[in-house]
Amino acid sequence: MADTATKQRTVKFIITRREKPDAAPFTEEFDIPYRPNMNVISALMEIQRNPVKADGGKTSPVCWESNCLEEVCGACSMVINGKPRQACSALVDKLEQPIRLEPMSTFPVVRDLVINRERMFQALKKVKAWIPIDGTYDLGPGPRMAEEKRQWAYELSKCMTCGVCLEACPNVNDRSSFIGPAPLSQVRLFNAHPTGEMNAGERLDTIMQDDSGIEGCGNSQNCVRSCPKGIPLTTSIAALNKDTTKHMFKKWLGM
Ligand code: SF4
Ligand code: FES
Repeated sequence: MADTATKQRTVKFIITRREKPDAAPFTEEFDIPYRPNMNVISALMEIQRNPVKADGGKTSPVCWESNCLEEVCGACSMVINGKPRQACSALVDKLEQPIRLEPMSTFPVVRDLVINRERMFQALKKVKAWIPIDGTYDLGPGPRMAEEKRQWAYELSKCMTCGVCLEACPNVNDRSSFIGPAPLSQVRLFNAHPTGEMNAGERLDTIMQDDSGIEGCGNSQNCVRSCPKGIPLTTSIAALNKDTTKHMFKKWLGM
């Protein structure tokens, strides 16, 4: 009897869909057969297998993006019951029903729940979030990093460019050019690297030059509360505020 009852249980989803980037959004409801321990991605896979709405009407499979399925790649970020987060780590048993899925609104929608995170990748390029070690000959081993500093840097390096902190930030929107907390925190990470610090001044110049950088932060603190990786985003921004001020004075004094 218990088995039959489990088989008959369903989970209700209300999904915001859009056929193409400039199409009007609409919602569709689905009743998905319940399985213990299912996550939002497995429910979406069930819709893909059997694209039938709660009213029995056929529809097209819902589109979403995912890759690692372990909260490492950031591809499956969406708004689940009003909160931006990863669909792969969102367990159905822990969500209130009906479960509402929407695409993140800070990024252009490609289709249904698929968004384009290009603005984040462009921001990482803008701040040179890398270490320039390419050469035409063997450059030898780089400088060693103290273990304590390496552990500290590891925490910042966990960023998966998921976009959740940009979605949560009131200052990232289509009226502002603010690059958002994640790329700023990467400036702090690469500036702290013994080789990356060669370009520290250049990175600081970039985030000081217009409203897209450090000045765009309104200190709402939403980012640090929303980051699934627990990255200390507001601490990074505060540290960069100090670094940019020092950098500005040094430039004035010609140092
Ligand atoms: S800082 Fe956190 S929330 Fe922001 S993109 Fe990186 S992992 Fe996602
Ligand atoms: S699939 Fe990679 S974070 Fe969810």
